Amino acid sequence: MERRKFLMLFGVGTLASYLPVAIAACSSLLKPDAASAQSDGFLVVGTVTDLDNAGQILRDTEIGSIALVRSPDNPQNLIAVDPTCTHQGCKTNWDNNNQSYNCPCHGAKFDVYGNVINGPARNSLKTYDATIQGNSVLVRRS
Ligand code: FES
Repeated sequence: MERRKFLMLFGVGTLASYLPVAIAACSSLLKPDAASAQSDGFLVVGTVTDLDNAGQILRDTEIGSIALVRSPDNPQNLIAVDPTCTHQGCKTNWDNNNQSYNCPCHGAKFDVYGNVINGPARNSLKTYDATIQGNSVLVRRS
């Protein structure tokens, strides 16, 4: 085998053997909102510090969009909903002053628990279980 051909094949082979490792190492970087799943189904979606600084955690995760706030009735409890409007799928916006999710598309309004206040939506927002472990805020499907 010629030296030049040997070096070319060796180089391609070496590159091919490192490619899967490089792809695996970069895959987590390709999902900026990837949350880490635990064995009990909970996902870490942020920290207590994030929540208390912003008043809300808003994330798109593998189990859906999540909007999370502290309960107005008991701040130790967390309330997490999917902020996607159940009318036609627009993203609602959290109104902290009125403690409601407001849909910019057709005016639907939901309370902090995701219950319909004003139509045209008829169904409540989807909810999640939410909890705190240490400084981590976790959610899972209800
Ligand atoms: S999509 Fe929200 S009110 Fe229509």
